[in-house]
Amino acid sequence: MSRATPPQPEQLCEQPPARAPELRAMTVADLDHVMAIEVQAYGHPWSRGNFTDSLAAGYVAEVLHGAGSQELLGYFVAMPGAQELHLLNLTVAPPHQHHGWGLLLLRAVRERARSRGMGAVWLEVRAGNERARAVYRTFGFAERGTRRGYYPAFASRREDAIVMDLEISPELQRAAD
Ligand SMILES: CC(C)(COP(=O)(O)OP(=O)(O)OC[C@H]1O[C@@H](n2cnc3c(N)ncnc32)[C@H](O)[C@@H]1OP(=O)(O)O)[C@@H](O)C(=O)NCCC(=O)NCCS
Repeated sequence: MSRATPPQPEQLCEQPPARAPELRAMTVADLDHVMAIEVQAYGHPWSRGNFTDSLAAGYVAEVLHGAGSQELLGYFVAMPGAQELHLLNLTVAPPHQHHGWGLLLLRAVRERARSRGMGAVWLEVRAGNERARAVYRTFGFAERGTRRGYYPAFASRREDAIVMDLEISPELQRAAD
């Protein structure tokens, strides 16, 4: 019987590689966790019905979770249009914000649009949501216009939406084919 070779010192010091978070399709079974994040992240959160309607309609909806963990880091929901993907909800759980997950989710959204042959991603964002607007600009979205009084706000007021779009260049479409 051969004896097993003992591990070398450098092997003992080896750390397992950090596993990256993973994306998968959102399902109804995720909605308790999704809603817990949603109400933390927004003053005017989506209702559970907004999510179930989106899933029933077959919108593109995915969750980001830690590798080997059920904890959700964030999610997005996007509605396919004729030529563009309309991003309806993009959220990173507040304790996990500022770690690059928002940009990771945006890369996934762009890839879902590209793989469907769409030329752009569209979204609306509250005019007062400076952080989200900055994140979108950093990613390459451009501000195209304003929808007056689009969102409900506190004290029966309304808030404007800024319409932004991200063009998916033909080069990017070809490069990833
Ligand atoms: C907006 C949101 C999705 C961003 O997610 P996030 O994981 O915190 O963002 P990231 O860590 O990927 O940061 C994005 C990058 O954008 C850039 N950025 C962020 N804020 C910026 C600012 N004020 N100015 C310039 N660039 C900025 C930076 O490059 C940043 O990376 P860094 O933190 O390493 O510098 C997240 O804050 C969120 O869920 N907010 C609440 C819900 C919401 O408002 N969603 C959008 C609705 S339209």
